[in-house]
Amino acid sequence: MTFTAFLGALDAEIRERADWGDVASYIPELARIDPAQFGIAVALADGTMLTAGDAEQRFSIQSISKVFALACVLGRIGEQIWTRVGREPSGARFDSILLLEREHGRPRNPFINAGAIVTTDEMLAGRTPKDALSEIVGFLRTAAEDDDIHIDKAVAKSEAETGFRNVALANYLMSFGNLRNPPEMTLGTYFHQCAIEMTCVQLARAGRMIASLPDAPRILSAQKIRRLNALMMLCGHYDGSGDFAFRVGLPGKSGVGGGLLMIAPGVASVAIWSPGLNVYGNSKMGTYAAERLVQEMGWSVF
Ligand code: DON
Repeated sequence: MTFTAFLGALDAEIRERADWGDVASYIPELARIDPAQFGIAVALADGTMLTAGDAEQRFSIQSISKVFALACVLGRIGEQIWTRVGREPSGARFDSILLLEREHGRPRNPFINAGAIVTTDEMLAGRTPKDALSEIVGFLRTAAEDDDIHIDKAVAKSEAETGFRNVALANYLMSFGNLRNPPEMTLGTYFHQCAIEMTCVQLARAGRMIASLPDAPRILSAQKIRRLNALMMLCGHYDGSGDFAFRVGLPGKSGVGGGLLMIAPGVASVAIWSPGLNVYGNSKMGTYAAERLVQEMGWSVF
């Protein structure tokens, strides 16, 4: 079977199974989305892009934005960010507040919400939210070599109206002195960053630099790429990170919009989208597709 035929068969199988999971309910704009959708795009080292299903459908990248925000911050201030946020798996839900008290307001890693709020706060250093957001969107456009990447303001507004846990996290961080801007300002920026919309094709193209593919724009050093991959492997799926490493064996980052960016270093950048989620808040069929693809291609790093 050719690779394209495999992707087509996987798409058909997933639609046949119709075991979609539930869409995120705590962000009203995401709760309206039909879970019965699936798309996949695979950018290969030879420059080809293979797709199946709804690969050209825009979706809310949500927490996948945290990888690119971190890349921007590492470029901007480098190692200093690690004084404000750790780089260990949390073993807790993405929106958990539990460890923050015990660990004196230093979030475990930049991919859980508390850690990502700190990263976004750092993006704001001396700049307006508009400038910080332009940098993240600009970074994605450069990485994907596609200017048609935008923020869905309705999703940002919807999350701002119901994001009570994030409000709690930001205030709690502030109480430990680990937020430099007013919580509303950092959160407003964070909600807009999470509301960036992309297609699987755009996201797979943006991921090429993290996979060190030869045709990727060279914007990150080899050391930063290694570190982003390490963090994605250990923390990219929150308390489901161990399960993802066990089942799939590649660095990945999920978003509550049902997106999944997965990196086969030197080999491929894969973006998958299916909005129904599993118990960890990661795409249910996206994770299944990742597992099937990696088994088929033998891409696990282990
Ligand atoms: O902060 C939130 O809750 C969302 N904007 C992002 C969370 C998320 O994507 C978790 N991923 N699976």
